[in-house]
Amino acid sequence: MSSRSWFSRALLPWYRENQRPLPWRDTADPYRIWLSEVILQQTRVDQGLAYWHRFVEQYPNVAALAKAPEQQVLKLWQGLGYYSRARNLRTAAQQVMNEHGGRFPANHAALLRLKGVGDYTASAIASICFGLAEPVVDGNVYRVLARVFGIDTPIDSTKGRKQFRALAAELIDPQHPGDHNQAVMELGATVCTPKNPRCGDCPVARKCIALKEGRIAELPVKAKRAAVRERHFHYLRIEAKGRVFLRKRTGKDIWQGLWELPLVETDKSLTKRGFMAVIKKQLGARWTIVAHEGPVKHVLSHQVINAVFWEVVPPGGFKPPPDWKRIPLARLDSLALPRLLERYVENSWATAR
Ligand code: ADE
Repeated sequence: MSSRSWFSRALLPWYRENQRPLPWRDTADPYRIWLSEVILQQTRVDQGLAYWHRFVEQYPNVAALAKAPEQQVLKLWQGLGYYSRARNLRTAAQQVMNEHGGRFPANHAALLRLKGVGDYTASAIASICFGLAEPVVDGNVYRVLARVFGIDTPIDSTKGRKQFRALAAELIDPQHPGDHNQAVMELGATVCTPKNPRCGDCPVARKCIALKEGRIAELPVKAKRAAVRERHFHYLRIEAKGRVFLRKRTGKDIWQGLWELPLVETDKSLTKRGFMAVIKKQLGARWTIVAHEGPVKHVLSHQVINAVFWEVVPPGGFKPPPDWKRIPLARLDSLALPRLLERYVENSWATAR
């Protein structure tokens, strides 16, 4: 046994006593566990629960998800962000059906070949569903290990990633890998929190180097702040006869496959005059501005979107670009929209629905 077996011996009984009762902990069904892990990469448990229930209700098994229309899956994912995860869910479900006879493969390497499944998800499924000793390392695990073992290697460096993974592999209890992995994550989520950790309730506080040395607030260390890109979106709300123009986002940018109002993006924020000039250049003369709202700041992981919503009327005889569709206002609720647009529809467009 590893000389560090004290870690799991302290953690497992704590986990069995203190774990949150979550629905995916009552099942060994890899489909349901996989869903929970992908959702929890995107949000916290309290918000993720509702999404998980909706997915399981709508698609009770992997076969049902594999057959689902992409737009329906995106709609169910709406609000979680990072929509490639939702598209990948559906693709991976199809892979499980076509390449594995409808059963999740029971090893780490084959799980990794499923679309959107990285080391974290593959290890979570392998350990929780199949009892394999694969260590999971997510943000919670980095924090717990950095503090308990007093490690100040940056967690976003190659060296750090290697070091923490090796430590997690050394610590894992081969008899109970699923519970062990979940116990570390649970400790990070509920006790060893980023701010104001509850060290008095921690089963490994006695051994915690950061606690002993007063370094809780310093650990874990991050080398760099992610570069944040500022963007300026000008949305055009063009409404007539109970319909509004929308277009579906394509290409490599954010929100691929989601619907939004026609958009003009600029490098800087614009005054009303500046906006008029841009519209004239891009869409022609004689547009009328009726009202505008914003800028609304919408923060993503590596970008900040400054969005202004312009209510405008096009000149008579205006020919819309081919990808603008006239959508009945009553259908707005059923389309998959980015959260930014969903909020605008909810808050500023109540009359539409
Ligand atoms: N966060 C993500 N997955 C988790 C799990 N299985 N247990 C606890 N926290 C988690």
